[in-house]
Amino acid sequence: MTVRHLLRDDDLTPAEQAQVLDLAAAMKKDRFAHKPLAGPRTVAVLFDKPSTRTRVSFTVGIAELGGNPLVLDTGASQMGRGESIADSARVLERQAAAIVWRTGAQSRIEEMADGTAVPVVNALTDRFHPCQVLADLQTVREHKGDLADRTLAYFGDGANNMAHSYLLGCATAGMHVRIAAPETLPPDPDVVARAEEIAATTGGSVLVTADPAEAAAGTDVLATDTWVSMGQEGKDTGLYEPYSVDEALLAHAASDAVVLHCLPAYRGKEIAAAVLDGPQSVVWDEAENRLHAQKALLTWLLENTA
Ligand code: CP
Ligand code: NVA
Repeated sequence: MTVRHLLRDDDLTPAEQAQVLDLAAAMKKDRFAHKPLAGPRTVAVLFDKPSTRTRVSFTVGIAELGGNPLVLDTGASQMGRGESIADSARVLERQAAAIVWRTGAQSRIEEMADGTAVPVVNALTDRFHPCQVLADLQTVREHKGDLADRTLAYFGDGANNMAHSYLLGCATAGMHVRIAAPETLPPDPDVVARAEEIAATTGGSVLVTADPAEAAAGTDVLATDTWVSMGQEGKDTGLYEPYSVDEALLAHAASDAVVLHCLPAYRGKEIAAAVLDGPQSVVWDEAENRLHAQKALLTWLLENTA
């Protein structure tokens, strides 16, 4: 039996990623026409950390697919009292068609996937946020057309889940991905190496730089994320200040560039209010596309699990 999971962005090949994005576009166009979870089949959606968008979009999306969303804060379950991931996986797979989980260490979601015969979806770990990047790629497609050869530049915390997922997800899409981050706080070299390996097969490219102007030059897309991810409260953010996406940085980009932010945003920190709330921002489309991209992803994973 082959069980398909999305634990990290490169769990989808370039062709598979394109299939999911095509399906997401079709599902957005005809929102209530697709019912692959009719029955209803249940999808378990587990949270070890807070969420607004992920919780809402999976709940709404699973219901729109004809299914039953079972949303569980793990702190209120026996997992919060130390029941093992392996035992939890064995219980969930008997009743749920798929498991979606927001957790900390990547090894935890890998353990969940190893222990179950149903698809497991990473709804954010400390290392990757692949559902967000699928929604971001859908958004870029809507505003810019074909992804191949487009440039996306990300600014700020180069070592967080969004930076790592942009590296893998954009390389898979054949894009040119640039990460601008403090020299002493770079992305994980293993993730950069993997992105370079993928880019070599897709015609994309990877640039890691400490110079925000170099990353912004002529780019089609600018992206950023909070400087303080969940679990990093109290972190010193001084080194990130030159990477704030403000109007001066935006001026280096293509004149029709669009701006992404996965949200929640901290105006005046990683992004200026004038940019987030300005005409080049597509962040509300991006937030909506979590719904469509994840509906397509769940449909695709279930169809390809046999
Ligand atoms: N972008 C994102 O994942 O938002 P939430 O933390 O609100 O789910
Ligand atoms: N990097 C952020 C993303 C939030 C959606 C975090 O992990 O908190």
